[in-house]
Amino acid sequence: MNSCLHKLILTSVFITLLSIEPCLSVRVYKKTDILRLREEVREMFQHAYDSYLRYAYPYDELRPLSCDGVDTWGSYSLTLIDALDTLAIMGNYTEFNRVVDIVLQKKNFDADINVSVFETNIRIIGGLLSAHLLSHKTGTKLEPGWPCNGPLLRLAEDVAQRLIAAFDTTTGMPYGTINLRAGVPPGETSVTCTAGVGTFIIEFGTLSRLTGDPIYEEVAYNALKALYHHKSPIGLVGNHVDVMTGRWTAQDAGIGGGVDSYYEYLVKGAILFEKPELMSMFIEARQAIEKYLKKDDWFVWATMLRGHVTLPVFQSLESYWPGVLSLIGESDTAMRIIHNYHSVWRQYGFTPEVYNLGTGEASSSRESYPLRPELIESIMYLYRDTRDPILLQMGEDILRSIQHSARTPCGYATIKDVRDHRQEDRMESFFLAETTKYLYLLFDPDNFIHNPGVHGTVINTPNGECIVDLGGYVFNTEAHPIDPSMLYCCHEAKHGINISEVHRIYQILEEEDNIKFMTMIEASKEKVINDTTAIIEPKEAVNISEPDFKNEISEKLDQNQVLIKTETRTGYVNIDGTEREKTKNESLVDIVKERINSYYNNTNSLEQKEDSTTSLEENTSSTEYENKFDVDDIIVPQHSQDIEPLQTPSGNRAREVFKMLPKVIQDFLNSDWKAREKCEPQHLLDRIRKEKRYPDHSDTKRYELLLTPAPSFLQRISLAGEFLNKKQLEM
Ligand SMILES: *[C@@H]1O[C@H](CO)[C@@H](O)[C@H](O)[C@H]1NC(C)=O
Ligand SMILES: *[C@@H]1O[C@H](CO)[C@@H](O)[C@H](O)[C@H]1NC(C)=O
Ligand SMILES: *[C@@H]1O[C@H](CO)[C@@H](O)[C@H](O)[C@H]1NC(C)=O
Ligand SMILES: *[C@@H]1O[C@H](CO)[C@@H](O)[C@H](O)[C@H]1NC(C)=O
Ligand SMILES: *[C@@H]1O[C@H](CO)[C@@H](O)[C@H](O)[C@H]1NC(C)=O
Ligand SMILES: *[C@@H]1O[C@H](CO)[C@@H](O)[C@H](O)[C@H]1NC(C)=O
Ligand SMILES: *[C@@H]1O[C@H](CO)[C@@H](O)[C@H](O)[C@H]1NC(C)=O
Ligand SMILES: *[C@@H]1O[C@H](CO)[C@@H](O)[C@H](O)[C@H]1NC(C)=O
Repeated sequence: MNSCLHKLILTSVFITLLSIEPCLSVRVYKKTDILRLREEVREMFQHAYDSYLRYAYPYDELRPLSCDGVDTWGSYSLTLIDALDTLAIMGNYTEFNRVVDIVLQKKNFDADINVSVFETNIRIIGGLLSAHLLSHKTGTKLEPGWPCNGPLLRLAEDVAQRLIAAFDTTTGMPYGTINLRAGVPPGETSVTCTAGVGTFIIEFGTLSRLTGDPIYEEVAYNALKALYHHKSPIGLVGNHVDVMTGRWTAQDAGIGGGVDSYYEYLVKGAILFEKPELMSMFIEARQAIEKYLKKDDWFVWATMLRGHVTLPVFQSLESYWPGVLSLIGESDTAMRIIHNYHSVWRQYGFTPEVYNLGTGEASSSRESYPLRPELIESIMYLYRDTRDPILLQMGEDILRSIQHSARTPCGYATIKDVRDHRQEDRMESFFLAETTKYLYLLFDPDNFIHNPGVHGTVINTPNGECIVDLGGYVFNTEAHPIDPSMLYCCHEAKHGINISEVHRIYQILEEEDNIKFMTMIEASKEKVINDTTAIIEPKEAVNISEPDFKNEISEKLDQNQVLIKTETRTGYVNIDGTEREKTKNESLVDIVKERINSYYNNTNSLEQKEDSTTSLEENTSSTEYENKFDVDDIIVPQHSQDIEPLQTPSGNRAREVFKMLPKVIQDFLNSDWKAREKCEPQHLLDRIRKEKRYPDHSDTKRYELLLTPAPSFLQRISLAGEFLNKKQLEM
């Protein structure tokens, strides 16, 4: 987790930078040694977690010295939500499920509190999304349509909808603070830090891919482009920016606090969403960083306009950088850097918030260690890639320090001063979300998170079969893992219904064509039973729910049937299961439109049956479908003037039709997602699209940029043939 630090106040003189050589004699780690360390980390987590539950819940954070709780970031039981997926990663499924139930007692996040947009996004939305995606492993009861649907996902979306108003600015960069109920507070400053602008694409993109609502990804992407657009001529970004004017109010450029996760999300966003232009933006930024900020494998702060060094310091937060480098296949460079950082750890037993490279000492007034995860995070990544045992030793050093100096009878305490290891009465939620998680993962090489693509799980979704859990997890900046294959499941399934199409069809159902559509289906069924139409002339009545139609009849029925893909077919199939020709390049929505037209062409001459006895208000609980399908949810007549002569189909008949749909579609239509209100700030999205304030980066198609020599744990998707499709690879 990285944070929006206030402008650095240090102004020490630039002196020759230190380069401390590591002089470790590396221990030998046997498998049993590693697992013993893992169990020690589990106990560490358990102690802190149980203490939070006992002394602090439902407050945001535990106070480990006074043994009570306190609200810090938003009065939303922050630590509970932030720690949730760590339970799943450590395999404590019963507790995970218990907490999910608790979290779900909350229907939404409506509250009159001012919260940090950045922190709420990475901790709450990130935590909820990750728990949602992991819940298939833990035996949680899944809703139909999962992972594209589910209560945790809806909760995450509820939070995101509350944050989105922050993006309604002239630059598209978000405000830093928002009131969860009322939007941007009056008089709120328009100045925010760079990370607070550029750290949304993972959570918001995930939301969009899962729900099908593009607004989240587009506002997050727009904010990233805004930062890129406002970079200095030498390619650096500053620390704080005015979101209404685009003016930089703090012009220090660096890779640490206030900027950090912007760079992190360029790389991770490129990987997770297959966006080469984000990788290009990172590569360009990296060139400027190497040129102006990198000194002997340390990174300093400099003016964004000229690159003059202002602060020769190392910040604890910067330790994420080697981890990011390992993601792009530069573990060698990363190892050199992490040796530097670890030398600071060994000097004090912790890394101070700010370490002066000139004097080789912790900077006064910035000498605390609030149990931050960044160093252990990079160590975990690098170990996974290199298996260098020195990384295990670094991890054990960190474990020892924390156990020795931070442990209290009721939790783990922030180190107030790394020089004397005094404690402070605070345990931030990232200790349970990140620090313990990365430590655990370092010592648990067989954890499912590390799966290099050698096995997966087949699940059935509304859009067909989908292989998930193949590894390649991308962590958000609060260590909440996202399974990329699940985004793919909901976004565009190769085998089965394209969920975007289903959403579009649903819009048809909801809007002008809905009556046409339902009437058509309904009437076609009526005709079969009735033997009165010109299109279908069966000799006898047919039991419509019987799957084995007589051939003759099914052939005729076909004309008026909606064509749907099922999870077992590669192409579109008719309702009766016969396959439709695959030669045509057609989307589901086109097929539906064609069916509608064909129906009207064929029935124009027919008298339309008036059926005044049916109405949507009829007693729906009188059928066997009660609680399963409320026709009002699907049929919402809105433009009835266009189609005067037609009647809305009755609830009963719509139900019959519904029954004809494949089970997987029934489940999908039954689930809650369709009842979701349209995101209110739709106008914001429209405006972003209309204005097109920032041009697209020219590298949107350079997929080869994603083919970095990344370690195998990221290549798993390409192994599965899903990460980059053939066409992209051939480019
Ligand atoms: C799971 O967590 C609960 C609550 O902290 C704890 O009581 C239980 O022992 C844990 N179970 C396992 C298997 O670790
Ligand atoms: C939120 O911030 C606004 C503006 O600073 C302030 O007027 C309001 O009282 C704050 N609300 C809460 C609940 O703190
Ligand atoms: C799914 O539908 C969307 C929207 O129509 C389209 O952009 C996307 O390419 C489709 N995906 C596939 C795999 O057909
Ligand atoms: C058959 O259609 C006629 C009108 O065309 C209607 O009055 C009658 O109720 C229908 N029969 C059945 C069994 O639905
Ligand atoms: C349709 O046929 C099936 C199997 O023959 C039977 O179980 C079902 O009750 C029938 N439904 C109706 C509405 O007649
Ligand atoms: C096939 O569909 C795609 C997406 O709708 C479209 O761009 C393309 O032109 C179509 N190809 C043909 C041959 O119709
Ligand atoms: C319906 O009729 C219109 C006009 O006569 C024609 O353009 C269209 O192709 C027809 N559609 C179908 C599906 O037959
Ligand atoms: C619906 O039908 C059930 C059973 O026939 C009955 O108990 C209930 O009162 C009815 N509800 C309405 C709103 O008519």
